[in-house]
Amino acid sequence: MALDFAAAYDELNPDDDDYRFYAALADELEATRVIDLGCGTGTLTRLLASRGRAAVGIDPDPEMLRVARQRSGAADIDWRLGFSDRADTNSADFAVMSGHVAQVFREDDTWSLALQNLHRALVPDGTLTFESRNPAARAWEQWTRQATLRTLDTPEGHVEFWHETAWVSLPLVAYDTFTRNLRTGEEASNRDVLAFRDAPSLVLSLEKAGFSVSRQYGDWQRTPLVPDSREIILVAKRHAFRQPAADSRKRSGYPANPVI
Ligand SMILES: C[S@@+](CC[C@H](N)C(=O)[O-])C[C@H]1O[C@@H](n2cnc3c(N)ncnc32)[C@H](O)[C@@H]1O
Repeated sequence: MALDFAAAYDELNPDDDDYRFYAALADELEATRVIDLGCGTGTLTRLLASRGRAAVGIDPDPEMLRVARQRSGAADIDWRLGFSDRADTNSADFAVMSGHVAQVFREDDTWSLALQNLHRALVPDGTLTFESRNPAARAWEQWTRQATLRTLDTPEGHVEFWHETAWVSLPLVAYDTFTRNLRTGEEASNRDVLAFRDAPSLVLSLEKAGFSVSRQYGDWQRTPLVPDSREIILVAKRHAFRQPAADSRKRSGYPANPVI
């Protein structure tokens, strides 16, 4: 194996400004029941649960959930393998998608279905929050071997890991994740496609799903969103009833959060 990606995920993504942002927001809103959609290895889920909240972590990748379940504090969390339709109706007052999960929904219909399912899962006035990379900041231009190369010390030996942008056809961007085991010479690569929606598109999609956007930030220090902000961080309130939507069941093929 070139790299056990799920086991290496936390090492590849050490920054926690985003987790601290979402935890502070949940504190501020006095959230008591939370859903973390696309929870991955569950670092944020555990942080949210550590403050006495009931927490549900949902993810379609069994390997990510396997790692999540092994971490300390994991026993208190309701881990669910699957998609947004695994969220129970009226079960939460705070729902979050961190680590650019919003971008794995590359088709607008799968994105809308996820928003509708989160709307159904939230109580009236419940909060949905997530971030997406701002296309105006053109993050994909930094996804080169030179800028992203890491060498990881794994049980299988030292493994090089990097990203390279493959093509750009906005709002879609394809990138490859490469790994090379320096001991065995084994190489692997995987292509994934992310959606880079701009702020007006994201706000419109939320409104169509029955949310109103209450705050828009451009970084984790709560700087207001401006046209060239690196991130689009949105906080929205559920404001109306909608019929529940069936989940698309489409997998994103997602392997790796670009780590820059
Ligand atoms: C970059 S990781 C982010 C994990 C975690 N939220 C974090 O902040 O570290 C993206 C996660 O989205 C999950 N994912 C992919 N497609 C999904 C879908 N359709 N619905 C929900 N989650 C999905 C992946 O399995 C992966 O764990």
